[in-house]
Amino acid sequence: MKFFIDTADLDEIAEAKSWGCLAGVTTNPSLYMKTGGKLADFEGHMLKIAELCEGLPVSAESTATTAEGMVEEGRRLAALAPNIVVKLPVCAEALAATHQLASEDIRVNMTLVFSPTQALLAANAGARYISPFVGRFDDIAEDGIQQLANVVACLGNYDWSGKNVDDRVEVITASVRTPNHVTQAALLGADIATVPFAALKKCLAHPLTERGLAQFEADWEKVKNA
Ligand code: G3P
Repeated sequence: MKFFIDTADLDEIAEAKSWGCLAGVTTNPSLYMKTGGKLADFEGHMLKIAELCEGLPVSAESTATTAEGMVEEGRRLAALAPNIVVKLPVCAEALAATHQLASEDIRVNMTLVFSPTQALLAANAGARYISPFVGRFDDIAEDGIQQLANVVACLGNYDWSGKNVDDRVEVITASVRTPNHVTQAALLGADIATVPFAALKKCLAHPLTERGLAQFEADWEKVKNA
């Protein structure tokens, strides 16, 4: 399973990228708002992320509400850099926009997916990535991982050749809150987890690693002083 980072913060992206295991970036309007970004700077900011992560897919979300608007904004975002993926929230307008954008070889990440039927419709419309949300199910006392499992199983039953420029659909586990979400997503075969930086750091940390390292360092001091 690949790791994407779910943030629009350039410092967080740069640090995660320095680890050497980052495969992409996802953003959304809320994440951009958290950076303090202004409307006029949105496309420039997406371009900065795309340049920082050259060669890796960077999802930039359209806020248009009509199919025509999404296509127009999607074309503009995709023209910023070759690694920009247009992110659209699943709805009838976005399916139509996805179909058009896919016919122009523009990659779409369909977001706010909460059911297998939404995922199947998105893949058939031409989405390159499908983003089922996990944490928001947990927020309402439902099992987000089981919902993700259903999406992965349904999409995995079919060959998506001819539906988008890459002839494949990848599931991005989104709304990830904990390392356990990441582990469960990998166990059930999700292609990607997009993880906020705070959760990514929790994925790396382990108290036994810290304890073991402290022991090695203390013992090495003894070797040096022997
Ligand atoms: O990728 C979608 C993600 O940003 C949503 O996460 O924590 O707002 O549910 P959250």
